[in-house]
Amino acid sequence: MTVRLSEASDAAPGDIRAFNVRTGELAWVFHTIPWPGEFGYETFPEDAWQNTYVGAANNWSGMSVDRKRGILFVPTGSAAYDFYGGNRPGENLFSDCLLALDARTGKRIWHYQFVHHDIWDRDLPAPPNLITLTRNGRRVDAVAQVTKQGYVFVFNRETGESLFDINEIPVPPSDINEIPVPPSDLPGEITWPTQPIPVKPAPFARMSTSLTEADIPEWIADREKILQGFKNYRKEQWAPPSREGTLLFPGYDGAAEWGGAAADPETGILYVNANEMAWVMQMVEVPGAQALQALSPGERIYSTRCASCHGSGRQGNPASGFPALTGLKNRLDKNKVSGLIASGKGMMPGISLPEAEKEALLRFLFEEETDNTGSTNQPVQEIRKDQVPFVSTGYNKFLDANGLPAFSPPYGSMTAIDLNTGEHLWRIVLGEDPQLKKMGIRNTGTENYGGPVVTRNGLLFIAATKDGKFRAFDKKNGRLLWETDLPAASFATPATYEINGRQFIVLACGGTKLGAPKGNKYVAYALPER
Ligand code: HEC
Repeated sequence: MTVRLSEASDAAPGDIRAFNVRTGELAWVFHTIPWPGEFGYETFPEDAWQNTYVGAANNWSGMSVDRKRGILFVPTGSAAYDFYGGNRPGENLFSDCLLALDARTGKRIWHYQFVHHDIWDRDLPAPPNLITLTRNGRRVDAVAQVTKQGYVFVFNRETGESLFDINEIPVPPSDINEIPVPPSDLPGEITWPTQPIPVKPAPFARMSTSLTEADIPEWIADREKILQGFKNYRKEQWAPPSREGTLLFPGYDGAAEWGGAAADPETGILYVNANEMAWVMQMVEVPGAQALQALSPGERIYSTRCASCHGSGRQGNPASGFPALTGLKNRLDKNKVSGLIASGKGMMPGISLPEAEKEALLRFLFEEETDNTGSTNQPVQEIRKDQVPFVSTGYNKFLDANGLPAFSPPYGSMTAIDLNTGEHLWRIVLGEDPQLKKMGIRNTGTENYGGPVVTRNGLLFIAATKDGKFRAFDKKNGRLLWETDLPAASFATPATYEINGRQFIVLACGGTKLGAPKGNKYVAYALPER
């Protein structure tokens, strides 16, 4: 099973645990941050397993199991802290891995790592698809893993052998037009020199390297300013996080996201929807010990525990779902905020703080501090080893002042990939941005969360888009056959089931993400009664 944990630098380790459902007893544990003597131990610093400053490498996206063989497939995420790895030099096994474990014992059968020493939060975003393919005239039981970076990798389920060649590419390129490129400009960061790129299938989303100045549209606000920013960002594939800003495309949430892909067991075709949203990843120095002392106790805690999401100036990033924390005293109750910090809410994890630290933090947030120069001689918070020297300024999409994408569409797509051959069969734009449509800009696609469902008789169903529609496509060619409006956008994979020979498909319509209106309905559709 998987547990929820923080992915900040105080994260717990992402151990995989199995429980006996009859007795409730722990059956086995697999350490995703290996202990001394375990395979992969040397890919982290010696004391990483003690989990005082490295954590996560956890599974949040779900797993798949081959019941016949008793193999459990577990995709893992990055090690924490997400965006700076100076305190965890090494390849960092088993972060960002597909693990094939013996379901009965938890013993590793094989693994594959998709991102070495991840500093981009490239967690594997979805459970892998089990699929059977034809290769050289033989049937092969395979497992296919979609990734945030826009590649799909296909392996033999038993041996872990890749069914398509994978190259380890030197990254980032050491020079562009013969100008040397530094791997990372953040002191202490040692990037991994290579990353794996499959020869086939081709990526199912655009990449930062494919955007040029011609992709900065005429219709956006402040085009000149955005263009300037765009020129300055690092844009190489696998460009590390930087102080000047790195354009992460596909973005933080990935090309593939939690909905994952649909696999057609009879044809070996994989259908994957992609987000094509670019984000700007910018790193800032955490105030050093001295600078921290100059902050008030509350702000010191804010800057180390909250600023990564709510912004260094508490401005948040509402367009990406991170609320501003300014003016709290005028709109929120202090006790409620105190409870919320402990419990978490929505995408915010619960954060446990010693009582004194929490009180100081609340005084800062509610603007009750009289002195911002460090009012106590005894700091409430020690400078800890888990405080990385650089943090990201937050989850910022590459948008213009009106909240519209600052680059060319499409922002969402769907691709059908024949995993027998590795060839793309078709690719369509998915969704239409309501705001751009009003401006007369059509066929834009939208960001989308939630996967597709494929049926034997030829249909491909998907909701997922910001425009709140539910669509059915012809699985052969991607032609739109039917679409309807949902009561609210459905950012989840539909579920299909059968009762007395009649087939249903049901969607959870919660809206809310991507600024879509909220909803609280389940909607089910059925085939006509025979
Ligand atoms: C991993 C990102 C993350 C971190 C770290 C984080 N938050 Fe949040 N926070 C969020 C998100 C996302 C929401 C919106 C939750 C929702 O409404 O679903 C939120 C909501 C809030 C709200 C409610 C705001 C409102 O207008 O309703 C408060 C207050 C808050 N956070 C305080 C804090 C404090 C204090 C810290 C540091 C101790 C913190 N958060 C750390 C992501 C984060």
